[in-house]
Amino acid sequence: MELAGARVLVAGATGVLGGELARALHGAGARVALTGRDGAALRTLAGDLGGAPAAVADAVDVGAVRGAVESAVAGLGGLDAVVVAWGVVAFGPAADADDAVTEELFAVNTLGPMSLVRAALPHLPDGGAVVLLSAIVADAPTLDMAEYSASKAALSAWAGVLRRELRRRAITVLDVRPPHIDTGLVHRALAGEPPRLPPGHDRAELVAAVLDGLRAGGREVVLDQREGRLVRR
Ligand SMILES: NC(=O)c1ccc[n+]([C@@H]2O[C@H](COP(=O)([O-])OP(=O)(O)OC[C@H]3O[C@@H](n4cnc5c(N)ncnc54)[C@H](OP(=O)(O)O)[C@@H]3O)[C@@H](O)[C@H]2O)c1
Repeated sequence: MELAGARVLVAGATGVLGGELARALHGAGARVALTGRDGAALRTLAGDLGGAPAAVADAVDVGAVRGAVESAVAGLGGLDAVVVAWGVVAFGPAADADDAVTEELFAVNTLGPMSLVRAALPHLPDGGAVVLLSAIVADAPTLDMAEYSASKAALSAWAGVLRRELRRRAITVLDVRPPHIDTGLVHRALAGEPPRLPPGHDRAELVAAVLDGLRAGGREVVLDQREGRLVRR
């Protein structure tokens, strides 16, 4: 996909990675629309990005999520790609997990992204793109992170089927499964305390790999364990 002029909705744009992706896409010449649940932060970012269209939506509210897609389509005059960077985490043994926390994890990390993509797909042209921020734990489920791991594994499984089903439309479905990155996400956990984590991976490398994946029509961005760097396939 050619990024210059591409119309891209970024969900979770008020988050660290969502915000950096929105800024990088804008810098690459894309026309960006934003959604997030913090109206003030969204307005500030929209202003920084030259008055980008912005809609407040909670990922757990399907009606609001659909509304955010429609508002992006109206604001940009169409839509070529969506980037979903919503996410929450929780820590603790699986046997002790709180049901309401588990529901919220799946609502934000799995079901909300599915709803947003379903709402966007009728608008995307052949050759359009979907980018989903999953996580390395989808491949390596981690102790004290069973529900977060499961919510991301479900999202990645869904992305894999979606990609195959959309093959005839040549829609890129980029499944991004980063390792730990210092964004503060783990300190905003819905429950529990984070275990000892490896040093955070480089954010700029992730943003560059996602833009590269969009340009090249890639399938995934993952950590190459031997090389210690992110690769796009
Ligand atoms: N950082 C890492 O180590 C890491 C590693 C692998 C994957 N990821 C994934 O990367 C994505 C971005 O994470 P990040 O590190 O940039 O964390 P972040 O800064 O906390 O961003 C998460 C975003 O999700 C939003 N969000 C949470 N609950 C929501 C809800 N109910 N409705 C709407 N928005 C909601 C947050 O909104 P508010 O600003 O309003 O809270 C925030 O914009 C997530 O999917 C995360 O799982 C992160």
